[in-house]
Amino acid sequence: MNSAQAGGSLSIRNVSKIYDPEGANIKALHDCSIDIAAGEICMILGPSGCGKTTLLNAVAGFHGISSGEIRLDGTLLCNTAKPQAQQGPDRMVVFQNGALFPWKTLLNNVAYGPIVQQRLSPKEARAKALDMLGEAGLADVAHKYPGEVSSGMARRAEIVRALINDPKILLLDEPYRAMDALTKAIMHENLLRIYDLKPVTIFFITHDLEEAIFLGQRVVIMTTRPATTKEIIEIDLPYPRDHRVLSSEAFRLLVTQVKASVHAEAKKAFAAGEKERA
Ligand SMILES: Nc1ncnc2c1ncn2[C@@H]1O[C@H](COP(=O)(O)OP(=O)(O)OP(=O)(O)O)[C@@H](O)[C@H]1O
Ligand SMILES: [Mg+2]
Repeated sequence: MNSAQAGGSLSIRNVSKIYDPEGANIKALHDCSIDIAAGEICMILGPSGCGKTTLLNAVAGFHGISSGEIRLDGTLLCNTAKPQAQQGPDRMVVFQNGALFPWKTLLNNVAYGPIVQQRLSPKEARAKALDMLGEAGLADVAHKYPGEVSSGMARRAEIVRALINDPKILLLDEPYRAMDALTKAIMHENLLRIYDLKPVTIFFITHDLEEAIFLGQRVVIMTTRPATTKEIIEIDLPYPRDHRVLSSEAFRLLVTQVKASVHAEAKKAFAAGEKERA
């Protein structure tokens, strides 16, 4: 869909992750493989606690893996011999809880990255930030502080703050989780609009299967912990997508298909939890 994308293919091969191998030995990922094409919007769905954030953190370089290999555009990020990827501006992360500096305006939050990395002068960075905030529909609130805007606006500003660094891949961990359905719908359309303007690969974790289908080119369904890929569903809905697609027959059929797959895993996760408690 995004032909201007210059790079950003992610290859996750046979990745396993065990927390505290000498002690509690918690297996979070087991032999997990996913290939994501440059410029793809790839949605990750799976039961609570299965290992989704663990995988994202490994790609971002926040922690190491126990075995396997992760590559970005063919370049090794980490493998069994070099377990932890180095963090870098080629992989930007946006979390659920938000991480804007409360003491800076949205404009200065967005301009911050290129200034500290000395990629742009402060004047250039602020001009670019203002431009990008405008594209995200935030020109009117650019000079406000995070505490003065809605959570939806703050989250959009965060995505702009990530994109101003020209990452190859945007890693999103349930960024819209706490939002009401209407705000979410607006966020989704806005994300797709920004994506059209700014080519980037998107790795997006969610619990919301309608969100996954509305946004994604593919939905990867993970198994219960330790997570591995259970099923990959192609979302054959034409872009540009807007809220009208939600009431189409094709969308409804995809919801049924994805729900059946996720539900089976969620039941297993629930049963495993019951067993642990017994
Ligand atoms: N630092 C850690 N040390 C030990 N165990 C951890 C650590 N982080 C996560 N875990 C465990 O690893 C498993 C996977 O956690 P993870 O956060 O990746 O799941 P998730 O799929 O993102 O869950 P959720 O959908 O609730 O966000 C869980 O059982 C969790 O308790
Ligand atoms: Mg998580």
